[in-house]
Amino acid sequence: MTAAGAARTALVAGNWKMYKTEAQAAELVARLVSLLGTGGSGDSAVEVGVCTPFTDLRAAVASAAGSGLRVFAQNMHQEPEGAFTGEIAAPMLAEIGIDGVVLGHSERRQYFGETDRALSAKVPAALAAGLTPILCVGETEEQRNAGDTERTLRHQVTQDLEGLADSQLAEVVIAYEPIWAIGTGKVATPEQAQEACGFIRALVSARSDPAGAALRVIYGGSVKPDNAPELLALPDVDGALVGGASLDADAFAAIVAAAR
Ligand code: 13P
Repeated sequence: MTAAGAARTALVAGNWKMYKTEAQAAELVARLVSLLGTGGSGDSAVEVGVCTPFTDLRAAVASAAGSGLRVFAQNMHQEPEGAFTGEIAAPMLAEIGIDGVVLGHSERRQYFGETDRALSAKVPAALAAGLTPILCVGETEEQRNAGDTERTLRHQVTQDLEGLADSQLAEVVIAYEPIWAIGTGKVATPEQAQEACGFIRALVSARSDPAGAALRVIYGGSVKPDNAPELLALPDVDGALVGGASLDADAFAAIVAAAR
């Protein structure tokens, strides 16, 4: 860890995607809380969260009560209310005790037409409601092979954060999730993860040095208990966004342990 790195609190978040009914969510959160110990996160050096389907949020909040475990949604609309059938607004999430929201996950970009333009409005709307955005960025395998990784990340980070004042930048968590590593078992090498997360931090530092130093950049893509220790030890990697392995309480707790 660098000196600046040491000051950042690691975040390990489990993105459940479209898994777990409400009853299953209550059970998984209760199991996690018992594995992670009192304080939910267990200690102040690591923040731990679960990102659940909308219908699980209330049950997750209830099961996590008093534990310190954070609860995140996986998407939201940029407007605070309105005629947008089927959508959920940030104030609705804040009112039920949600801590934050995943924004711009590659599955939303790929399957549901999420655009950087919408994200540039969603990120400030989340902060305005008191929610911590976990903004996901990352390149496809094609873009990496074409040498376009940095260009892709620059475009996403620059555009998605353009609605924020410099003083707000450090309130965002950026998750670097190379698309070729999501759900594939193909994890980025430590060199690839460090290079991309360092590049993302440099992009934010170019707007504000203190924000770049304070910003949390986390890695996602096939994080498992066996590869977590080396990824989480990288100087510019401040935690993990875990998909598949977060559906198993023991595996997720082992990844949290690696972050401590
Ligand atoms: P996996 O850990 O299943 O590869 O998913 C990563 C992810 O998309 C987290 O948001």
